[in-house]
Order: sequence, then structure tokens, then C-alpha cells
Amino acid sequence: MIERMFHIMTFGCQMNANDSDWLRRSLFSRGFTEAEKPEDASVFILNTCSVREKPEQKVYSLLGRIQNMTQGREDVLVAVGGCVAQQVGRGFFNRFRQVRLVFGTDGLASAPQALDRLTEETQLRMSLLDFSDEYPEKEQDWTDGEVPAAGFVNIMQGCDNFCAYCIVPYTRGRQKSRSTAAILEECRAMAARGTRDITLLGQNVNSFGQDAHGDGTSFAELLHSVADTEGLLRLRFVTSHPKDIADEVIEAFGSRTNICPRLHLPMQSGSDEVLRRMGRKYDMARYRSIVDKLRAARPDLQLTTDIIVGFPGETEDDFQQTLAAAREIGFAQSFSFNYSDRPGTKAEMLADKVSKEVMQDRLQRYQDWQSEYTEQVLQSMVGKTVDVLFEGMSRRQTGQMVPETPDSPKGTAGTADAGDMREAAGQQAPAGGETWQGRDVYGQLVHVRLPEGMNMQGKCMSVRICEAKKHSLTGEGVGDPW
Ligand code: SAH
Ligand code: SF4
Ligand code: F3S
Repeated sequence: MIERMFHIMTFGCQMNANDSDWLRRSLFSRGFTEAEKPEDASVFILNTCSVREKPEQKVYSLLGRIQNMTQGREDVLVAVGGCVAQQVGRGFFNRFRQVRLVFGTDGLASAPQALDRLTEETQLRMSLLDFSDEYPEKEQDWTDGEVPAAGFVNIMQGCDNFCAYCIVPYTRGRQKSRSTAAILEECRAMAARGTRDITLLGQNVNSFGQDAHGDGTSFAELLHSVADTEGLLRLRFVTSHPKDIADEVIEAFGSRTNICPRLHLPMQSGSDEVLRRMGRKYDMARYRSIVDKLRAARPDLQLTTDIIVGFPGETEDDFQQTLAAAREIGFAQSFSFNYSDRPGTKAEMLADKVSKEVMQDRLQRYQDWQSEYTEQVLQSMVGKTVDVLFEGMSRRQTGQMVPETPDSPKGTAGTADAGDMREAAGQQAPAGGETWQGRDVYGQLVHVRLPEGMNMQGKCMSVRICEAKKHSLTGEGVGDPW
């Protein structure tokens, strides 16, 4: 019997983060506990990402580190889940003796039972790698644990787009929409428990309901129904593919006040030629017209994006078009990465690979522009009064460790990045006060000093912004919490 104390390490996008949260809750309900320090754990779970080579390599180095850290211990069980597990599968068993469970993206729903069994049957190995025919519903155990002010709800699994560079359709399988009734019930239950900000999650939320598993509800219809949830203050969704965004969704930004005025709309490149070779199925004229319509519907809208630099065949001129488009549109934030060859994708087979040096130079120029621009956006908030929804105390006061930088979390406004963490760690509460952290409607992190003893978790307050840092804002509370 292996002691039921676990440690989870999560890489990749918000979906993986949400899957890990679910796994954690499910393990608690089975009598597992979470180790305070990794070295105390007996059950190690890696929830992996294979979208680029770097996070994939990290999985192997972490497995090596776990092996070293637990040398001489026989009571250790390692599970590898998520996108790399789906891709490599049982291959992990041969390379790492301690790995006794691999579970793919649809296998997650059965991972808790498998872990239960594996802690008792210590000679057993299991793999959960099949794609299911339907959206794999997971048991919802909401009875224990703290209620997050902001939560996430999966509305679909997988992707049918096969963009030339992307491994996701292979690791997450074909698109499977979840039933509208199940989504609405989860949102209702979360709001009833006190969650006031919900982000709907999917690889391509705008094509919700358009697959064989959909129940005929369109994404715009779903948005309106979720926006009607009693007590729901803020609604967001990620990720939107520009080719699928419907006019009705754009209109919803104008008509529903609880849909937050920030949209993540991956552009990938500003060059029509590169977009064509990426198989994105839109050109810059279409992208710009969506942006114009969105801004007409919601003038205070902020846009964020994903950019790939150095796609095979990308010229300096193509790159200049990306930079020019980003400046012109004015993305509040970008997740930008060098192109990375992924096994089995169309782009892997393309000629004219861009050299590492050229890619790195372009990426640097893009990121220099973006950080300067992001700072300007934050700076423009100084002096304004915004509504902040509080998520907890700033990290230093809670004694929470600043985590090692993971591969950048996928573009989700609600995700703290490494910069947020460092700034939070640097926050000092004045004597007699406490610093709380929350987010404004754009998902920007805001730190506020408040008198000791106020429980602000899940509450809102008007805050006057006094200072902008590189990744966050600081302000002072005005008026009463609600
Ligand atoms: N479904 C989402 C994206 C999921 S992957 C969408 O279509 O927008 C997240 C981001 O990773 C992508 O938007 C892309 O910018 C980046 N990405 C995917 N494959 C990549 C690769 N091979 N190399 C570099 N970046 C990649
Ligand atoms: Fe990583 Fe993409 Fe899988 Fe998310 S969907 S975990 S970003 S490979
Ligand atoms: Fe799908 Fe997005 Fe890739 S829509 S194919 S995951 S870039």
C-alpha cells in the first residue's frame, strides 16, 4: 500500500490547469491529501503539454528529478497525464520504472479510480489512452474545499482544425461538444456556491455545438444562457478562432453587460501568405473586420492574442507585417513563441525552416514592442476607478511559494503569469494592514491594501488605481465591499 499523499505538476493551457483542479478535488474526495512539500509526496502526477518542444522536454527532466529525489524509496507512484501522455503513451513505462499510470485527455475522468487501485496493487500498471465517443463527463464533487471567486467550465474537448503547426488535434482528439444542460448546471452550481466570475473553456469555443456530438445549440445561444445565470457577475471565454466567430457572438459583447470587455483572438501572423500556409482559413482583411465590429459593439474592449514567430518560410517582410498589425490593432497582451516542429504535423514536413537565431531575433523584437505597449495599457489605468473582484490575499502574506516558471500558460486572461507572481511576492503590507489581490473586468491583477481582518475573498470593491507595475496594478479601496 502506498501512502495517499500526492503532488501535482501542471504544464500548458488553462484546460490542463482546470483538469488538474478537478483531479485534485476528486482525489480529496477519495481520501488523498496534498503534500505540503513535493519531497513528502508518494504519488506524483504530471499533467503535461506538448504544444511546443520545450514543455515536452521538461516532462522528461522532471521525471528524472523525481527519480533522483526519491532514490531508495519503494513507495513511490508516478502518473503522467495530458497531451504528452496521449502522444507517448505506454512508452513511458519502458523509460521510467516509477511510472505506473499514463492517462490521456479523455482518460482523465477515470484517473482517480485508477490511482485508487494503483496505491493498493503495487505491481500493477495502467494506461487510459482511448478517445471516447462522447464528451467525457466527469463526476462533479463540489461539496468540499474553498469556493474560488473565479472559476472555469469546460464546454468542449478537442479540435478539428488541424492548423499546420499544431499537435492539439492529435493529443486532444476530434472536437466533442459537451451538452448544454450539463454546462448550464455546472455554471449554476458554481454561482450558487459563490463563484462570481466564470470562464468557458475550449480549444475553439466558437464552433461549440457544430460537431456530431453537439445538441444544436450555437455558441452565441450558449453565451446568452450562461450570462443569465443568477449571481454571475463576469463571464469570459477562451479560445476563439477568428474564422468561426459569429456576428451573434460579437453582438453579445454589446448587449450583455456581464460579458467582460476582453477577448483573446489568436492572430498567429499578420501575413496573409503565412496564414494561408498555416491553414488558418482567414486573412488579415477578415481579422481586421472582426476587430472593427467588436470595437463598434464594445468600445472599451481589449484584445489579446497568440503569435507564432518563424513559421517555415516566414520572411522578414512577413514578420514586419505581423509587427505592424499588432501595433495597429494594439493588443493589450500577447502569448508569443518561436515556431516549434511538432511530430506528425503538416508544418514539420515543410521546407524553408527559419533558423533559431533569426527566430529569436524576431521574437525579441516582437516581445520588446509588446512589453512596452502592455505597460502603456496598464499605465493608462492610473487615476481610474475600477471594480475589483478579490481572489485572496497577496501571496507573500499567505506564505505561498512562488512557483518555478512553467511554460507560459495559454492565453487566458484569468491566469497569473510568472511576472504577476514575482510582483505579488514583492508586495509589502503596511503595518496594521493586509494586501489583497483581485482582478478588474479585463482580468488585470490589482493589489489593494485594506485594514486587517476584512474577509474580501469573493467580494467586489471599487478601487482607485494609484500605480501601474510591469504586470499588475496597485490601488486603494473606495466605498464598501459588495
Ligand atoms: N486552440 C487555440 C490554441 C491552442 S494552442 C487556438 O487555435 O487559438 C496555443 C497556442 O500555442 C497557439 O495559439 C499557437 O500560437 C501556439 N502554438 C501551437 N503550436 C505551436 C507550435 N508548433 N510552435 C509554436 N507555437 C505553437
Ligand atoms: Fe498543451 Fe495544447 Fe494540450 Fe493545452 S491543449 S495541454 S496547450 S498541448
Ligand atoms: Fe486547433 Fe488552435 Fe491548433 S484551433 S488546430 S488548436 S491553433
